Amino acid sequence: MLPGGQSTSPAAWTANDLADNPHDAADKAQRVHSMFTAIAHSYDLNNRIHSFGLDQSWRRRAVDLARVQPTDRVLDAACGTGDLAEAFAAAGAAGVVGVDFAEKMLGIARSKSARARRRPGTNTPTYRRADVTTLPFPDECFDVVSIAFGIRNVADPRQALAEFRRVLRRRGRLLVLEFSQPANRFLRQLNHFYCHHIMPWTATLIAGDRSGAYRYLPRSVATFADRERFMAMMLAADFSSVTQHPMTAGVCVAYLGHAGA
Ligand SMILES: C[S@@+](CC[C@H](N)C(=O)[O-])C[C@H]1O[C@@H](n2cnc3c(N)ncnc32)[C@H](O)[C@@H]1O
Repeated sequence: MLPGGQSTSPAAWTANDLADNPHDAADKAQRVHSMFTAIAHSYDLNNRIHSFGLDQSWRRRAVDLARVQPTDRVLDAACGTGDLAEAFAAAGAAGVVGVDFAEKMLGIARSKSARARRRPGTNTPTYRRADVTTLPFPDECFDVVSIAFGIRNVADPRQALAEFRRVLRRRGRLLVLEFSQPANRFLRQLNHFYCHHIMPWTATLIAGDRSGAYRYLPRSVATFADRERFMAMMLAADFSSVTQHPMTAGVCVAYLGHAGA
């Protein structure tokens, strides 16, 4: 079921909530919806600033890994403001649909899409409100399903993976982009300091946020499945030949899996 359109409370995540594992919260979907409704207006700006401009190159690399064919239909799940959907369209996909349950994020995706300058012959993505755990699409109707920085935010990631598998055609590809931890100990500590002690303050200030979104972000990364566990989740959801592709020393990782053997 889709959560309501507006935030009812300014704080989706308090410090007390985040002392526990946020993925265990019974009302995680409502909180996540409320948080993205609150920060949608400055989401892109915060992404660019706090990734030092790298977030779009991570998305482009993910698109490269999916090896888009001119006949491919792509579903970008939890598309947010549409950056990955736009990257798939620019790569020449036959059609791209972005879905998200936060209308405010979709509104920004639609207005960016309307303003976008496209190469001749490039398709325009369409955006639709939907919950990725109950996708409004028939079985086996997409060649690629992608989700960037979204699976960690979904209340039931296993159900989302099952839905991705259901809507993928045989030999279709699932591309998941998510934050991770650098393998190098020094870089891991540096990344931890930045994500836990700098970014939450500056991002909260830029967003004028009272939802707790940028305190939830590092906590949700630290408590989400690590790379090995996430790859096991993909295999359990019936994806094969699952591979991981770390980027920027492992701050970010793309997972690629295939539907069918
Ligand atoms: C961190 S944003 C990622 C947005 C975009 N993919 C990107 O690359 O920037 C996470 C998105 O997941 C969406 N989301 C979380 N749970 C969802 C669900 N169950 N169904 C649909 N969208 C969901 C949120 O509304 C939010 O827009």
